[in-house]
Amino acid sequence: MTSTVNRRQPATATTSDPVILASNVSKTFAHEGVQQHVLTNLDLAIRTGEYAVVMGPSGAGKSTLLHVLSGMDAPTLGRVRVSDTEIADLSPRALTEFRRHHCGFVFQQIQLLDALSVLDNVLAVGLLADRNRRRVVTRARELLARVGIDEATQRKFPGMLSGGEAQRVAVVRALVNEPDVVFADEPTGQLNSEFSRAVLDLLSQVNAGGQTVLMVTHDVRSALRGDRVLYLRDGAIRGECVLGRRAPSGNHTAYDLVADDERRLTRLTGFLDEMGW
Ligand SMILES: Nc1ncnc2c1ncn2[C@@H]1O[C@H](COP(=O)(O)OP(=O)(O)OP(=O)(O)O)[C@@H](O)[C@H]1O
Ligand SMILES: [Mg+2]
Repeated sequence: MTSTVNRRQPATATTSDPVILASNVSKTFAHEGVQQHVLTNLDLAIRTGEYAVVMGPSGAGKSTLLHVLSGMDAPTLGRVRVSDTEIADLSPRALTEFRRHHCGFVFQQIQLLDALSVLDNVLAVGLLADRNRRRVVTRARELLARVGIDEATQRKFPGMLSGGEAQRVAVVRALVNEPDVVFADEPTGQLNSEFSRAVLDLLSQVNAGGQTVLMVTHDVRSALRGDRVLYLRDGAIRGECVLGRRAPSGNHTAYDLVADDERRLTRLTGFLDEMGW
């Protein structure tokens, strides 16, 4: 069977470079009359085809940042551009349509639809972006198999799944429409090492095929997959650690800035120490 996962050309610099540009973004929540400034004057650029990772303390606003960058929530102030589109300029309907085609989102709280089977949860998203049912079903099944969701599990309903199974389904659902940008909010938070690896391998593969990945994680080993790790604290990006492209497993080559996982780990842990993580 030919792979349907990896159909894009590798990323090249285009007019949509960077694919995400956030300028002077602030996000304030008001609850019981108290204002909480979660993001303050945040600037951020993510290059097309980049694999970027966001780390930072719990409550720092990482999920909020992903919601704002993906158009799921509006910033209080500032501008967000994704794939050459100022998302604040879109009507709610146009924004929904835009997100269907350009953004995939893995939620920290998994959010599958309880009334639909596992396969139908994935198809519900895939068919919004691609009307060719046969093609979407093939892609959905292939992606589900890649993360260890077998055919019997594909017929189950979300209430019957383990936490880890539900999380793997949620990852596939975010990838099925082949979005320009995959926003992944702690996508391996509930997974053992085998399935963490399967999910991370899948994200690395779609990234190698040209899709941009922006992942939040608390896990240093997962973060090593990224080209660059950004540290969010006190409402803004306080530093970044450039790791460069990671070589495919076991195939370390000279083009990588820091090809060797142990050297990447040393660099990243040094950076996280500096950031006070
Ligand atoms: N809808 C909301 N209304 C009010 N406060 C909110 C809302 N969403 C988030 N917050 C607050 O914003 C802050 C940042 O939350 P956020 O979920 O972005 O943090 P996080 O960095 O993702 O944390 P974690 O690592 O624990 O997932 C928290 O103090 C949270 O209570
Ligand atoms: Mg979060």
